[in-house]
Amino acid sequence: MISSDEVGTRLRVSGIIKNLDCTEIIPETILDLWHTNDAGEYDNVGYNLRRKIKSNIAGFYNFETILPGKYLNGSTYRPSHIHIKVTTPGFPPFTTQLYFEGDTSIANDAAASITTGDYDATHRIVSLVNNDGILEGTWDVVIDGDGILGTDDLHITNGIIYDVSPNPFTDKITINYGVFKSARTSIEIYNVQGQLVANIENKQLVANKYTAVWNPQKEMASGLYFCVLKINDLQVYYSKILKK
Ligand SMILES: [Fe+2]
Repeated sequence: MISSDEVGTRLRVSGIIKNLDCTEIIPETILDLWHTNDAGEYDNVGYNLRRKIKSNIAGFYNFETILPGKYLNGSTYRPSHIHIKVTTPGFPPFTTQLYFEGDTSIANDAAASITTGDYDATHRIVSLVNNDGILEGTWDVVIDGDGILGTDDLHITNGIIYDVSPNPFTDKITINYGVFKSARTSIEIYNVQGQLVANIENKQLVANKYTAVWNPQKEMASGLYFCVLKINDLQVYYSKILKK
């Protein structure tokens, strides 16, 4: 997030983005980051120290910046913090803040000091280690989103569903997916009993991004379904979709 002449203590944050029960990783999640400079000022003109990054295909993200400076909020300083808006493909975004362990301003901050309920900040206070002058911390994210099993299990190097929308859907759903090598590719819909409901695409494709549109039959029951990407008959990815 910074050029080499940015004043301040170097800070590196990394983590993995997973679904709620941590059984799946979530690639392609956008982290929109913004914070103050070393002097505690936001740049509202040149928008320095603001950046969007994305988790990679293994659900991993990292960014390097400086430790944000503190600014006065009324008569007390807000702790050093990074604002983060997290957007998972196909799901509503949420906006939150990260703090850093040992910050003496946390205890008196209305947001950072909360330790129970929906706004519990406990797991957003990142501990830092000094690695050769760079402070390093880990912040893993769990989010209500669809992911993929580990790369060991599911050959995600072959393809991925980037986005399904709208979700929930009624009479039409658009599926954006990528194929990473030439292969016979199919997009299929399954119900929760595991029965095939529809075969939307089944064709030989070269490596590229593709879009499939599906118009389900009106009489199709509402509820949960699975949109599955198969490469050479191997399931490499799925997304949960909800029919209204
Ligand atoms: Fe702020």
